[in-house]
Amino acid sequence: MTQSYTPRRWNLSGLSGISDRTLEIHFGLYEGYVKNTNLLNEQIAEKLKAGQGRSTDLGFSELTRRLGFEYNGMRLHEYYFDNLTGGGGDPSSRLRDALANAYGDFETWKADFAAVGGMRGVGWAIAYQDPASGRITNHWIGLHEDGNLAGFVPIVVMDVWEHAFMFDYKPSERPRYIEAFFANLNWPAAESRLVGIKQEADTVQTLR
Ligand SMILES: [Fe+2]
Repeated sequence: MTQSYTPRRWNLSGLSGISDRTLEIHFGLYEGYVKNTNLLNEQIAEKLKAGQGRSTDLGFSELTRRLGFEYNGMRLHEYYFDNLTGGGGDPSSRLRDALANAYGDFETWKADFAAVGGMRGVGWAIAYQDPASGRITNHWIGLHEDGNLAGFVPIVVMDVWEHAFMFDYKPSERPRYIEAFFANLNWPAAESRLVGIKQEADTVQTLR
């Protein structure tokens, strides 16, 4: 029995600077990732059943390579819509301090995050927390799968594929979309993702 995922739904109507039309199209794209993740899992299972689960089988190899694209496409959109569920305002002091930690202050973190999101190409800006140190750093994810950090926890997730804003802004106006993202950002949702910091003693033991 293969794993099957069910598309989730969000009621995000009425966001500021991100239109309902954009959201409707975006939800449809997200559902495509869920569908394709399920399809790939089924097709890989069929290959295994038919004795074709071999590295020399080109079909098996291609299906397996695509799984990271489709699965991350599904999961990153869920993080994105979850942290867009009508928020804005200011982060709590706990989250503000956590984000500021590696950058000196919150404003520098925010400017860096916006700069990462403004980079050319399609992908994601993600503020990832290292559960071992608690440090949060901003990263560029190409497509959906290149650049995710193993074991790190996504705290703030922003889609910067053009489909996320092309009906509301010109391609060259991505900074305006990024401003809109922050205006709608659900800080409590981001805060709920923070993880506790492992004690240094545990880390030392692990290294030995
Ligand atoms: Fe997207």
